Amino acid sequence: MIRFFFAAALVAFVCAKDVYNPSLKGMQGISITYENEEQLAFVLQYEGVLGFDFMKVTRLANDNIHVLVTAFQVPIFKKALENHGIKYNVFIEDFGKLVEEESISQEIARVAAHRSKARRTYNFSYFPRHKEINNYLVDLSKTNENVTVFSIGKSYEGREMLGVKISSGGSNDKPAVLIDAGIHAREWIAPTTALYAISKLVNEKSLYEKIDWYILPQINPDGYEYSHTEYRLWRKTRSPSELSYCPGVDANRNFGFKWMEVGASDYPCDEIYAGSEAFSEVEAQNVRDFVLSKNGTIKTYLTFHSYGQYLLHPWGYTSDLPENEPVLRSVAVKAEKALAAVQGTRYTIGSSTNVLYAAAGGSDDWVMAVGGADLSYTVELPGNSFVIPARRIKPVGEETFEAIKVFGEYTSENYA
Ligand code: ARG
Ligand code: ZN
Repeated sequence: MIRFFFAAALVAFVCAKDVYNPSLKGMQGISITYENEEQLAFVLQYEGVLGFDFMKVTRLANDNIHVLVTAFQVPIFKKALENHGIKYNVFIEDFGKLVEEESISQEIARVAAHRSKARRTYNFSYFPRHKEINNYLVDLSKTNENVTVFSIGKSYEGREMLGVKISSGGSNDKPAVLIDAGIHAREWIAPTTALYAISKLVNEKSLYEKIDWYILPQINPDGYEYSHTEYRLWRKTRSPSELSYCPGVDANRNFGFKWMEVGASDYPCDEIYAGSEAFSEVEAQNVRDFVLSKNGTIKTYLTFHSYGQYLLHPWGYTSDLPENEPVLRSVAVKAEKALAAVQGTRYTIGSSTNVLYAAAGGSDDWVMAVGGADLSYTVELPGNSFVIPARRIKPVGEETFEAIKVFGEYTSENYA
């Protein structure tokens, strides 16, 4: 009912083309504390409603829900919360303004970085464009004999999906760690954190003495570019759907394990649209084919997202825990400790379904169930929305690298 009312109202107010990219101007970030299941259920009724973007939803009792609300809906929504006695506060006054300010300071940092002769390659002072990411990988491979660049294929719009292999050479079937990032376009801190890990890893030979690392810093380049040039909140891929005004698929609902069983949508306009079939998206296919081509050597898989500071292991499709849950948890606990030691950042550890919500078709579940990895984690990096100041790129990269090291060491010690 609510869904219908708001959709109809919005259609009346906005021209058809822009309906599904609601204006960021005056959009507010609202943080909600719920006191009981009834209040939670009330708030979650707005999930999937046009003009409401649930950035952070958890099942943890002491965690807040973060939702972005379009200017038009703000007063109506606040009233509704008040009528139900639900506590909230506004933590982003104007999301549009925030995006604009960030993009200006980014541009300044980018220009400064490109001007300085000393540092021709990406320097972690701004969020790089897809071309800059690829150039960084290629440059690094030229100056480092342990780094090779490879492509897993092209995106829907034809962008090259590059990755690096960091290896001491020798046998081709060493156990390996796979890291990817950027499956959700707007989560900009994810690719930079993967790039930062690459920059650190090359200098830590002991970490790739016995194992290989494969890092894919941007597995949704079309969506990522769109989030830079057209619409900051873009999450999905950019392939056309049967509805011309709603392109794109949530690639993290598109993997072929328990596809569409729960927490995914068959309606193209939804942010969690799972696609017309499993692996309909070429980007998901490319990741799948890459993993399968490694013949079970990938033992550990990390996929970077933002935000919320969660270290999530399977399953995402059920609240049942995998058989190896004790191992998944104990390695995560160790990694989290190492990360927290850097600057006190704390993560919550648990299964995706139990910490967040059930959602099938994620890359994490597939890589563990079908791809042959023993350890698989979704890392929800820090932030207070998808827009995170560029000055946090290095500190987040730094602390996350400490966790990555722990996963690498575990892989070396147990599989090599
Ligand atoms: N925020 C992520 C998403 O919604 C969490 C994914 C967790 N994994 C899962 N298989 N549900 O895609
Ligand atoms: Zn995500």
